[in-house]
Amino acid sequence: MIQRRTLLAATLAAPALSACATTDIRASLPELPRDTQSYAKPDEARVLHVSLDLQADFERKVLAGSCTLSIAARDDAREIVLDVKGLNIGLVSGNGRTLPFVIGESNGARGAPMTIQLNGAREITIIYETSPDAEALQWLTPAQTASGKPFLFSQGQSILTRTWAPTQDSPGIRQTYDVRLVAPADLIAVMSAEMLTPEGEIVEGGRAFRFRMRNPVPIYLMAIAVGDLVFGSVGPRTGVWTEPTVLERGLYECADMEAMVRTAEALYGPYRWGRYDVLILPPSFPYGGMENPRLTFLTPTFLAGDRSLVSLIAHELAHSWSGNLVTNAVWSDSWLNEGFTTYFEGRIIEALYGAERATMADVLGWAEIQEAIRTQPADLQRLHLLDPAADSPSAIVYEKGALFLRTIERIMGRTRFDAYLRSYFDRYAFQPMTTQKFLADFRDRAVRGDAALEQQLQLDAWAYEPGLPSNVEEPHAEAFDQVDHFVSDFVAGNPPAAAPWENWGTFERQRYLQTLPRTLTRQQLDTLESSFALNELGNNEVLFNWLELVVNNQYDPGVPSLTHFLTSQGRGKFVRPLYRVLMTKAEWGRPIARRIYAEARPMYHPIVAAAVDRIVGV
Ligand code: BES
Ligand code: ZN
Repeated sequence: MIQRRTLLAATLAAPALSACATTDIRASLPELPRDTQSYAKPDEARVLHVSLDLQADFERKVLAGSCTLSIAARDDAREIVLDVKGLNIGLVSGNGRTLPFVIGESNGARGAPMTIQLNGAREITIIYETSPDAEALQWLTPAQTASGKPFLFSQGQSILTRTWAPTQDSPGIRQTYDVRLVAPADLIAVMSAEMLTPEGEIVEGGRAFRFRMRNPVPIYLMAIAVGDLVFGSVGPRTGVWTEPTVLERGLYECADMEAMVRTAEALYGPYRWGRYDVLILPPSFPYGGMENPRLTFLTPTFLAGDRSLVSLIAHELAHSWSGNLVTNAVWSDSWLNEGFTTYFEGRIIEALYGAERATMADVLGWAEIQEAIRTQPADLQRLHLLDPAADSPSAIVYEKGALFLRTIERIMGRTRFDAYLRSYFDRYAFQPMTTQKFLADFRDRAVRGDAALEQQLQLDAWAYEPGLPSNVEEPHAEAFDQVDHFVSDFVAGNPPAAAPWENWGTFERQRYLQTLPRTLTRQQLDTLESSFALNELGNNEVLFNWLELVVNNQYDPGVPSLTHFLTSQGRGKFVRPLYRVLMTKAEWGRPIARRIYAEARPMYHPIVAAAVDRIVGV
């Protein structure tokens, strides 16, 4: 506490700081919990603004140029510590002079600390370029895109921004930024920011684009993409960016986006980022979606042709509040981003498509939680994770997190809980959050000393204990009763009737395939396949559930479909588990995994390839 007061006082007094180009330094130094995933020492010196001037060199697969950082620092601060990973650093300067720096020892995932002597400077410029295998960047060749033109995109979460920009890469350290990027003249650059020059300006060496983010954001949300991109409008503040041949399908799938933004606002207050556009990426995009502000990045695997997978958009949009406005201060609290967002996603889906659809998603989530509780060690079953490195999309963080909030809602009533959430987003907008702070705030504002309510809620058990507290209620979706009935019927030896499958939506089909016994006979698999043409499924979520059965049961007639699936998209959630099960089927699966992977690996994103390398043992 003393340290904080000194810091603020020093900041207010420092003449060097008032001369600094960035605004309102005084408001920018809230106390931060220790982030073990970052080397930064934000209590001593903190980045407030990042200014990048880069060239995208597709031949060499590097971004090259400069990064200028505006800094707030204690008067007595001699140095600033940044996070860097694989960056090639040239000169560092400030106040017109060269500044000495050292890059410390690198620790695998975290990269290395870069310590720069400030010599009084509060604005420093780093000349640098990225490495061709920067994990945040994927450079796609013309053969890997729909347009036949090259493509580049970045993915910062959780700690990969440090592989393309030298700054403090911790979600509690919010920064504004501006970017000038020179791309090849025939390509378009877009960013998670205001696009100041939509057409770009032809300059020497290509076409220059300028961007600006005036809201302070955690820097994992800074994202860029370059490709043969076109834009189609959906509503007044919503639209779709993608390669030309994908635009029509994209616009069809995203038709409800404007309504989604309105629905979200009606729930939890104004959308504070201006536009909400989405960028549909080439199939190697490693996630379903990424909530980059103003421009959500999406996998093309959600294009089902019937809008049945649009909860992905609802999810990423919801992050505009939970995650992007109020942000987990450290990654061990990522449930504050993902669990809140999964809850919020369900509320948007319920408002737009009805309670039954939302409940079906809850029930599928419940099954995922049960599976996690059965298979994961206790430490990975807590919402507040003891090891933040465990952060990756997990059923606990998403589904148990959402179930916690649904439990609160059920106990205290929707009206009261909604009022609380709305004020939470308002009061903590653009601020970092921790589990402890959320619980304290919730007790302060919502529980308000009501001992009976406190006892009913079991807040600490939910946040800090493994498993599920005793006040949990299993969700129930009527529509699944019929599905479960058909599963038992099939297990009892009756041939499956084609009729219900034809009429089922995505969730019912997923429920059916997920609840079939994991071990099936060749004959059962033949019957299923021929009844429902499972190898030809166009919906990737359902197809994935079928391919899990194919691999588990070493079902040869499914292998061509599996091969196509694994070589035509690279979404980690689909790809990793299928290789993992293949590798457990020694005689049968390993040669298949190696053959498919040899073909697919060049297409996979660096982080997915690294994960599959470990699985397949390359
Ligand atoms: N923020 C996540 C993606 C992410 C998580 C990236 C962890 C890096 C580390 C995004 O909002 C997300 O949750 N995506 C999901 C889709 C969603 C509908 C559950 C995904 O990618 O599958
Ligand atoms: Zn998410």
